[in-house]
Amino acid sequence: MRTVIFALAFYAAAAVFVGGLTYRIWQYAATPAPLKIPTTPAPLTRSGVLARMALEVGLFHSLFKSNKWIWLFGWLFHMGLFLVLARHLRYFTEPVWTLVALAQPFGVYAGFAMVAALAALWARRLLVPRIRHISAPSDHLMLALLIAIGASGLMMKYVAHTDIVAVKAFFLGLIYFDWRPLPSDPPLLVHLTLVIALMVIFPFSKLLHAPGVFFSPTRNQADDSRERRYAPARPSRLAASAAPAGDA
Ligand code: HEM
Repeated sequence: MRTVIFALAFYAAAAVFVGGLTYRIWQYAATPAPLKIPTTPAPLTRSGVLARMALEVGLFHSLFKSNKWIWLFGWLFHMGLFLVLARHLRYFTEPVWTLVALAQPFGVYAGFAMVAALAALWARRLLVPRIRHISAPSDHLMLALLIAIGASGLMMKYVAHTDIVAVKAFFLGLIYFDWRPLPSDPPLLVHLTLVIALMVIFPFSKLLHAPGVFFSPTRNQADDSRERRYAPARPSRLAASAAPAGDA
């Protein structure tokens, strides 16, 4: 019964996550950005934009320039999350990829770093009056959700172990439609329930900044408004909707 409920919930959550994210990314990609508005000083070429984007995504460059504390904890959280997720790939791959195997020892420290950085970011929202005032319930909810996922994960790792071989069999079974029983340990069930909630919320939440950064016109445009002058895509249409011939 437990296995069936979790299996169906994971399929549904995966559908919402992938479908919702695809729809959002399509929306971002289809939104016109006709004006050149890169934040200056801006790169002059496309390869310059690539370098700027790499700095932004890898090192959170603009955040570094605006606030060192948020940068420190924000970067720590995201790098921790990256390593934790890389470590988790072992549950979904057989044989486990070499890079994933190499990431294993770092992944554990990353789990602590991730939760500590989230706690610091949440403390900022709770303790700095100016920031508390502008924090919406969803800001708190996202932090609480991520901390609870991390804490339940660390709990499994250090306090109440679960059968990770059986967990892997369950997830490979989901992928190959050959369901295997899911262990019943409470921390695992809490961890997985929260992950399902995260997958469902993601496409409707502020967490969309992850794909969104790539579509940000202030970051992804080259400062070449003189070299590449904007021209309307379909001049014939514009002409048709213009004033009738003969008007001055
Ligand atoms: C379906 C997806 C997931 C599965 C099957 C899963 C499963 C597990 C398991 C079995 C452990 C215990 C590892 C051990 O005992 O060695 C664990 C730990 C952990 N999980 Fe997850 N988890 C998932 C998603 C996530 C997500 C999305 C996050 C973060 C947002 C996360 C964060 C953590 C952390 C921080 C730990 C402790 C450190 C570690 O062992 O890597 N998990 N997870």
